[in-house]
Amino acid sequence: MTTLCVFDAYGTLFDFNSAVARHRSAIGPKADALADMWRLKQIQYTWLRNGMGAYAKFWQVTGEALDHCLEAHGISDPAVRPKLMNAYLALDPFPEVPAMLDQLRRRGVRLAILSNGNPEMLDPMVAASGLADRFEAVLSVDPVGVFKPDARVYRLVEERCGVTPDKVSFLSSNCWDAHGAAHFGFRTVWVNRAGAPDDNLPGKPVAQLRDLSQLPGLLGVS
Ligand code: LAC
Repeated sequence: MTTLCVFDAYGTLFDFNSAVARHRSAIGPKADALADMWRLKQIQYTWLRNGMGAYAKFWQVTGEALDHCLEAHGISDPAVRPKLMNAYLALDPFPEVPAMLDQLRRRGVRLAILSNGNPEMLDPMVAASGLADRFEAVLSVDPVGVFKPDARVYRLVEERCGVTPDKVSFLSSNCWDAHGAAHFGFRTVWVNRAGAPDDNLPGKPVAQLRDLSQLPGLLGVS
């Protein structure tokens, strides 16, 4: 029985590609390639910083990843960086998200976010989406100073929300995060938006969804 649904933020509830999409004309024909590489580098940098014991706020990591990708794609217009970073503070939620959250709440499911993002970037984004009041907690890795999939991050849920891992359903569109959370002990669902093949990692998600509209049905609260 699920007491608490915990969602990853970037890519799961919020569409990180909406930042580049909003500024496509300023970026030019390399916009899609830039978006893909930006996300890849951003996440690689978190894993590498975890390995080095060199945590920095996700906002900094996101900017450093962007700088690398702008250079790699030869995009030198200085107006592009601030446009994209500002857009990251107000990413669009995926279309099915507001109704899905409302449905879960009506059926008494508690809701929270657990993200690599630091509060200074998460809080404005959640506020801009108009969804802030749906969540009892927006948890950031920042107080533990390490990124997912370190177990100290997933442990924050019990510490802050008082719910044991076996009563938590964890939702992530990042396959590696879904495996990390399942390995930790959450009942985990991989939101496989891209229809990608599974990763061969420890931890087994209990289910896969194509998007979050099917979550209430999966939890038996539709
Ligand atoms: C997050 C990234 C991993 O929100 O999507 O934690």
